[in-house]
Amino acid sequence: MRPTRLPLHALLLIALLAVQSLAASTFAQAQLTQVPGQNSPTTKEQVPLYVPQDDKLIGRVSIPDEKLAVLVQPEGREWREWRTHTLRLAIAGLAIGMTAVLAIFFLYRGTIRIHGGKSGRLVLRFNGLDRFAHWTTAVSFLLMALTGVILTFGRPLLIPLIGHQAFTPLAEYAKSIHNFVSVPFVVGLLMIMGLWLRDNIPEKADWTWIRTAGGLFSKAGGQHPEAGRFNAGQKLVFWSIVLGGIGMAATGYLMMVPFAVSGIGGMQIMHVIHGLLAAGLIAAVIGHIYIGTIGMEGAFDAMGCGEVDENWAMEHHRRWYQEQLRKGYVEGRQPAE
Ligand code: HEM
Repeated sequence: MRPTRLPLHALLLIALLAVQSLAASTFAQAQLTQVPGQNSPTTKEQVPLYVPQDDKLIGRVSIPDEKLAVLVQPEGREWREWRTHTLRLAIAGLAIGMTAVLAIFFLYRGTIRIHGGKSGRLVLRFNGLDRFAHWTTAVSFLLMALTGVILTFGRPLLIPLIGHQAFTPLAEYAKSIHNFVSVPFVVGLLMIMGLWLRDNIPEKADWTWIRTAGGLFSKAGGQHPEAGRFNAGQKLVFWSIVLGGIGMAATGYLMMVPFAVSGIGGMQIMHVIHGLLAAGLIAAVIGHIYIGTIGMEGAFDAMGCGEVDENWAMEHHRRWYQEQLRKGYVEGRQPAE
């Protein structure tokens, strides 16, 4: 039997098909691995996909929200550096620094005692409304600080401790509490402004108080410079909380409505201001809590039950005490002439 022979034109056809299929598969592979560029076969329009603009890369979008076209924004890296390093350092550094300074001061000075001892006669210092305003602001502030700090330190401190699964709902609750508690915080802030602003206006006597550091370093006792209802130290805390609180509220609410008044750069600036104010206020409030509790005998009563001992009032707020005496507001004392 003669072997079957393929005709020449059939062999040529097979070779042609093999070359064609090889070329097609190489082309398809090239298409899969290449990102379509502005001149790639998939790009119908011969226009650039993005353009550099003010050191950003701005793309093109067909939706109304044009800010979503920003592809690369170099300031974002600086902001992330601030968020993940500088902010944490500022909050932890100021809080730990303030606590250390107070601990050293406590070792040196101990609790500042009422020099003349307690007289047992009481003077009304803060009425119910004053105390409601104070505690509304104070409790809201502590909740805002705690929930804010959970967001700042969650990744480096809490996730390694409690894991992602527990941290996720914790961060969600923290964020909701931070949003909602902002309302009583602002209400408290407005109340303390309405109630105490007049008594916190700086005056000449404040200089003497500042020059002598309020007699805080004098161990002789009873050497406190004269003061009205609030001394210069308390005025400093008042204005820090009021102005800082207004700043926190303004930047905080603007962050809650992203891009309402500014672009991405403005949002980053608001976050930086919010964080710096938080760091400063947390340190200031640590100092305030110290002096209102273990730092000074009799001080907590003013905001606890609203009344202070007569000797405490005389030593720390002499001018205010004399006014109360004149008006007959000191228990067991007749109005003075
Ligand atoms: C009306 C008052 C306030 C409002 C409306 C407000 C709002 C906000 C908003 C929207 C954020 C961004 C959260 C996020 O990343 O999604 C934030 C973060 C933060 N807030 Fe407030 N806040 C207020 C007061 C306070 C106070 C009093 C403190 C503490 C002293 C505070 C401390 C913080 C901290 C530490 C962060 C986290 C910053 C970060 O790590 O990114 N805030 N706040």
